Amino acid sequence: MFVQQQAIAILDSGVGGLTVAKEVMRQLPREKIIYFGDTARTPYGPRSPEEVTLFTEQIVDFLIQFKPKMVVIACNTATAAALEHIKRKLTVPVIGVIHPGARAAISSTKTGQVGVIGTIGTIHSGAYTAALKELNPVIDVVSEACPEFVPLVEQGQFGTPKATLVVEQSLSEMKQHPIDCLILGCTHYPFLMNPIQEVMGPDVKLISSADETAREISTVLYQKGQLARGNEVPIHQFFCSGDSEMFSKIAHQWLGEQIELTPIVWQVSNPS
Ligand code: DGL
Repeated sequence: MFVQQQAIAILDSGVGGLTVAKEVMRQLPREKIIYFGDTARTPYGPRSPEEVTLFTEQIVDFLIQFKPKMVVIACNTATAAALEHIKRKLTVPVIGVIHPGARAAISSTKTGQVGVIGTIGTIHSGAYTAALKELNPVIDVVSEACPEFVPLVEQGQFGTPKATLVVEQSLSEMKQHPIDCLILGCTHYPFLMNPIQEVMGPDVKLISSADETAREISTVLYQKGQLARGNEVPIHQFFCSGDSEMFSKIAHQWLGEQIELTPIVWQVSNPS
């Protein structure tokens, strides 16, 4: 098979990476996607970087059998913990979501005051602050972990009054800071875009790394001459390790189409 026709592998701890997959489908409709959501072991946020690296490596080992032309770590927690390790391991390009998100924020902020919300793992890693300061050393960064968001999204509760309440409570401190843009530093958070925007108000621009990550995928494939060609409509493949009914339901709702989903039972032990 020509490399152009090979798939893009996308992984996340659960449904969060679908926010990136959706943007890839929109920007690059010829590309075939192979997606893995590790719903049996979500959330990754409270886990140690070592454990997240181990899980990411297991997913990559699974996905690599499909000979993807690129691997996208569509999970901020896994990007912070494992991106460099996975890059060293593979010969195909590996893309994370933190640098694209940081770049989008830098081009959007006018005041230089940027907020970041993410999982405990991502916020504790300091990866966003480092990426933002690398681009612009005088940028002011306020960050905060919102550990309650991911379980809400994984339970399909993103449009509920409970979601609004949790978002209000979790962002009450962030709201006090004079930021003009807020990075949704977890790929699950765009599911909560509406309540987050409502709480932060119309003057704060929300940055989801999904758009910018899809642009980076496009740039890298273009530079390598590996963009998919032809008029064939790609058939995407989805895998998840946990509740497949919930995954299908959320994916259908988010992507607006039925997906072809294969449940996977991990043959490896779950350390916690
Ligand atoms: N969606 C992931 C992220 O971007 C992981 C969330 C989690 O499993 O805690 O960080």
